[in-house]
Amino acid sequence: MQGDPPVTSGSDGATGTSPRAVPFSPPDIREEDIRAVVDVLRSGWITSGPVGRTFEGELAAATGADGALLVSSATTALETALRLLGVGPGDEVVTTAYTYSASAAVIAHVGADIRLVDTAPGGFAPRVEDVLAAVTPRTKAVVTVDLGGVLFDHEALAAALAGRPDFTPAGPVQEALGRVAVVADAAHSLGAVLRGGRSGSLADLTAFSFHAVKNVTTGEGGALLWRAPDGVPADDLRARARLLTMHGQTKDALAKTRLGSWEYDIAELGHKCNLPDVLAALGLSQFRRYEELLERRHAVVARYDRRLDGTGITSLVHTGPDFRSSAHLYLALLPSSDVAARNAVIEGMATDGIAANVHYKPLPLLSAYRTLGFDPQDVPNAMDVYGRVVSLPLHTLLTDDDVDRVAASLVRHAAGPAPAA
Ligand SMILES: Cc1ncc(COP(=O)(O)O)c(C=O)c1O
Repeated sequence: MQGDPPVTSGSDGATGTSPRAVPFSPPDIREEDIRAVVDVLRSGWITSGPVGRTFEGELAAATGADGALLVSSATTALETALRLLGVGPGDEVVTTAYTYSASAAVIAHVGADIRLVDTAPGGFAPRVEDVLAAVTPRTKAVVTVDLGGVLFDHEALAAALAGRPDFTPAGPVQEALGRVAVVADAAHSLGAVLRGGRSGSLADLTAFSFHAVKNVTTGEGGALLWRAPDGVPADDLRARARLLTMHGQTKDALAKTRLGSWEYDIAELGHKCNLPDVLAALGLSQFRRYEELLERRHAVVARYDRRLDGTGITSLVHTGPDFRSSAHLYLALLPSSDVAARNAVIEGMATDGIAANVHYKPLPLLSAYRTLGFDPQDVPNAMDVYGRVVSLPLHTLLTDDDVDRVAASLVRHAAGPAPAA
C-alpha cells in the first residue's frame, strides 16, 4: 500500500548551494502516522489498550509467533524473556561480544552471569559451535543477536542445544522447553526471513525494538514474542508476561475502568514496562506499510553494494539463497583494521555532511564490562571487525543521489588523504 509522503525530512537542514546533509537514521513519519496518534489522543484512552492489542495481534500474525506483548523497549522485552524463563542468580546466559549493551546488561539485571562469545573471523556474529563451547551446566539461555537485521540461525542453535545431559531448567517454562533457551535479540530484524521462517517465530522468545532509529518506530518501545513450548498454552505465557510487565497486577488499567470493577491483587512484585496506545498507534501505522519500507531499504542496500563493488570495501551481506534481512544497518568493512584510520574516515565523511556511525564497540571495550573483568584480548575477531566497520546511513528518506554521495565519500576518505600537490 502506498502511504502519504514523509512529513519528516531526510536532510539535517542544509540549505542553498551547500550539499544536502545526510543524517544517519531519521524517522520516516507520514501524515497517516500523525492521524493515528491524534486519534488515540482524542479517544479518551491513551495508555495500554485496544490499539496495542491490535498491533500485538498483527505482529504475531505477520511473524508466525504464538503471541506478542508490547513493552517499553527491546531491553525490557529481553529482560522479561529471561524472567519468564526463571533465569536468576547462580545461572549463566551466553551472548555475543559484538552487540549493543542491552543484549548483555539484561542478564546482569536478572542477577545471572554474562558469558561473552567472540564473533566468527571476519564476521559479525558468533558461530553456533563457539556458542555451544561457552555453554556450561549453569547455562539457562543464549541471547542471540540478529545484527544489522541478518538473522542468526536460532533454529540450528536450538537443535544443537537439545538433549544436552548436563541441562537443568530454571523454571516451569524452561522445564517444558527441555533445553537451554534461545532468546533472540531481534532489535534489528523485524521482517527478516531465514529458510522461509520469519523473525519472531524462530527463537523460543524474541525481542523487537521500536526505538526511534529502528525500521518501525514508536519513539521508544518494543515487543516480546513467544513460541509456546509443548504443554504450555500460549495464553498462559501471555498472562505471565503481562503480569511481569504490569506490577504483577491481576487486572490491567483498562479492565479496572469497567463500572464496578475496581478490585485487583498484586500477585508478585512485578516490573512496569507496558507500552501505551498513544505510542502503539505510531508503530501500528508504520507496520501497516512496512512491506513498502522494507523494499526501499533493500533498494538502498543494493545500490550501496553496486557503488562499493570492486573498491576493496566489503559489507554485511543482506540477501542470500535462503535468507533476506530486514536491511537495518549497512555495515561497510574497510580492508584493514585500524581504529584511528576508521575514525578519520568517519570524520572525513562528516565534512561532506554525511553522518556515519560504528556498530558496535565490542562489549569488553566498554568501562562497565571491563569492570566486570571482560578483556578485549579475549574477542580478537570482534576487535578486528570493530577496527574496520563504518555504518552508513540506511533509511527510507535517502534519495538515490544521497546513496551515491555517501558511497563516493566513503571510498574517497577510505583511500586516505590526497597526496600534496
Ligand atoms: C542489538 C540491540 N539490542 C537491543 C537494543 C535495545 O533496544 P531498545 O532501545 O528498544 O531497548 C538495541 C538498541 O539499539 C540494539 O541495537
